[in-house]
Amino acid sequence: MKTRIIVSGLLTFFCAVTFAQSPFDGLTESDLAEGEKLFRVHCARCHGIDGGGGEGSNLARSKLKYAPDDESLIRLLGEGIPGTGMPEIWTLDVHQATQVAAYVRTLGQLEEEEMPGDPQRGALVYQSPGGCPACHIVSGHGSGVGPELTDVGDRRGIEYLRESLVDPANAQSQTMGYQDFLTVRATTSEGQVEGLRINEDAFSVQIRDVGGTVHSLRKDDLVEFEKVFAHSLMPEYGGVLTGRDMDDLISYLMSLRAEQ
Ligand code: HEC
Ligand code: HEC
Repeated sequence: MKTRIIVSGLLTFFCAVTFAQSPFDGLTESDLAEGEKLFRVHCARCHGIDGGGGEGSNLARSKLKYAPDDESLIRLLGEGIPGTGMPEIWTLDVHQATQVAAYVRTLGQLEEEEMPGDPQRGALVYQSPGGCPACHIVSGHGSGVGPELTDVGDRRGIEYLRESLVDPANAQSQTMGYQDFLTVRATTSEGQVEGLRINEDAFSVQIRDVGGTVHSLRKDDLVEFEKVFAHSLMPEYGGVLTGRDMDDLISYLMSLRAEQ
């Protein structure tokens, strides 16, 4: 019901600014309803049923990093975001992409996902000895094998963040269809390297090991090359962190954003 009211409010808004030439010009309420249906089919499994995020970013925000305006939002759906887990949604034609995009913009008018704890306390949990900075970089601090977390609050939603801490192998396997992260083991005549694959083409592969060193290997030199599915180099924190520490840490991760 709340959504409906906001949606019609937004339609009035669209109509009021029609002279400003928007790709949403001429869309009706039934286009938005269609956009919502398409969102459930094509986007919800990654972005959450209400767009609050999961494996994909929280879209219930008034500003989106990759989609500063409505044209770029529509284009993004056709092209995906190369090098990330956002695929091109090639099953949508331009009209459908416009309907979904208009619906996505209405999500930005809704309330943001609530934090379960205190992000400032979470920052201390994050930095506690032997912890996360050994494997992750946040705004230039830290090192290691894991992906940079500087804007992880933009890229991932609360449930996925929790899963990453409690059951990292499972969180990783959710993204694996799109191969955001993949653990690989490469054996050369000199020994074995295990780590996160950061790049691979027909001739070479780059692997970051647990110490943070990047190894660039020619495939010709490999005796064996193994992709280790559903295996994470990250420890499980479910049994290590108490409920409150966990909630605070997740809140800290949610607060890591490129733009406030
Ligand atoms: C397989 C999972 C997946 C599907 C399906 C998917 N997305 Fe995404 N999407 C992602 C991920 C992951 C990101 C974050 C990319 C990054 O920043 O690393 C993302 C990013 C985005 C962004 C950019 C957000 C920003 O902050 O600028 C938009 C917009 C978006 N998706 C919209 C959609 C829409 C609309 C659909 C359905 C038509 C969709 N996505 C389907 C995974 C998915
Ligand atoms: C030994 C190294 C290591 C440590 C320590 C570690 N991580 Fe990770 N982390 C990784 C790796 C590697 C990945 C990539 C996905 C995978 O392999 O599971 C990852 C993935 C993540 C992700 C998902 C990122 C994304 O974009 O999907 C989050 C969030 C995360 N780690 C948070 C943390 C936090 C918070 C801590 C401390 C409590 C921590 N990690 C400690 C190695 C580590």
